[in-house]
Amino acid sequence: MTAEETENKSLDELQIEQLEHSDPHRTEQYKSISKGEKLVSIQNLSMVYKTDESETVAIQDFNLDVMKGELVSIIGPSGCGKTTILRAIAGLLKPTGGRIMIGNKECIGSGPDRSMVFQDFALFPWRSVRKNVEFGLEIAGVPKEERKERAMRYLKAVGLENFANSRVHELSGGMKQRVGIARAMITKPDVILMDEPFGSLDAQTRNIMQASLVNMLAKTDTTVIFVTHSVDEAVYLSDRIVVLTKRPAHIKEIVKVPWLRPRDRSSPECTAMRKEILGELEKENVMN
Ligand SMILES: Nc1ncnc2c1ncn2[C@@H]1O[C@H](COP(=O)(O)OP(=O)(O)O)[C@@H](O)[C@H]1O
Ligand SMILES: [Mg+2]
Repeated sequence: MTAEETENKSLDELQIEQLEHSDPHRTEQYKSISKGEKLVSIQNLSMVYKTDESETVAIQDFNLDVMKGELVSIIGPSGCGKTTILRAIAGLLKPTGGRIMIGNKECIGSGPDRSMVFQDFALFPWRSVRKNVEFGLEIAGVPKEERKERAMRYLKAVGLENFANSRVHELSGGMKQRVGIARAMITKPDVILMDEPFGSLDAQTRNIMQASLVNMLAKTDTTVIFVTHSVDEAVYLSDRIVVLTKRPAHIKEIVKVPWLRPRDRSSPECTAMRKEILGELEKENVMN
């Protein structure tokens, strides 16, 4: 099989769709919206999955606003519809009802204003680390030298400058997800959607990744919608934590996390907040 055949065979369509509209030369699209003002508005979102045998109501009349520059975590029971919400915002699936606004524009399909980081990394195994990061720029027609220079900058930002020429299979899970994050950030999206990005990492690597993310985001006003099943992670990272009920998800409570980042996860305040949210989630699981 030629390299090209391999590429055609293995390309994840969704990923391509996510990246192919990336325009690295765009100026910020939502300049008129200030930090702290509403950027993303999910309005009466519904998603019904239909198969020959069954119909699953994953999301029904879901509403949520996210402010520019905010990091909002979504946490809730497994199968309650979290990934569905993210994929709808990414434009990777068409909701059966409602709409999603970004600024004053209805978001239909994918676009350069949004990037997604996937739980299973979804990297291209036949490309080097640097070429993975460059992908969005390549599709957008950025010249080779500039692509390379920018990719190296992002690789440095995630601590992987010495692995630029490595293949993906040579990397650990944490390193792979650093590549995923660099790839998502290089196109300078307004909104980054992260679906349990650190879910498969060991506890120590996960903590390091969370700290790097905080570090990277501190330098931007990127808006992040972050799905997690870890209450600890949500309290460490978020400005607000949206706790969902079981499917079809509605909002059980929204917890504001008022402390500056970086945070001390073992502080009494963080511990108390974790305990409160865990209590809510347990109730949700018991109430089945
Ligand atoms: N493509 C699909 N086809 C049919 N059912 C789906 C599909 N994707 C998700 N679902 C169902 O929708 C519900 C919500 O799924 P998902 O959004 O992945 O939940 P979560 O991310 O919270 O675990 C689940 O019951 C799941 O089985
Ligand atoms: Mg999911």
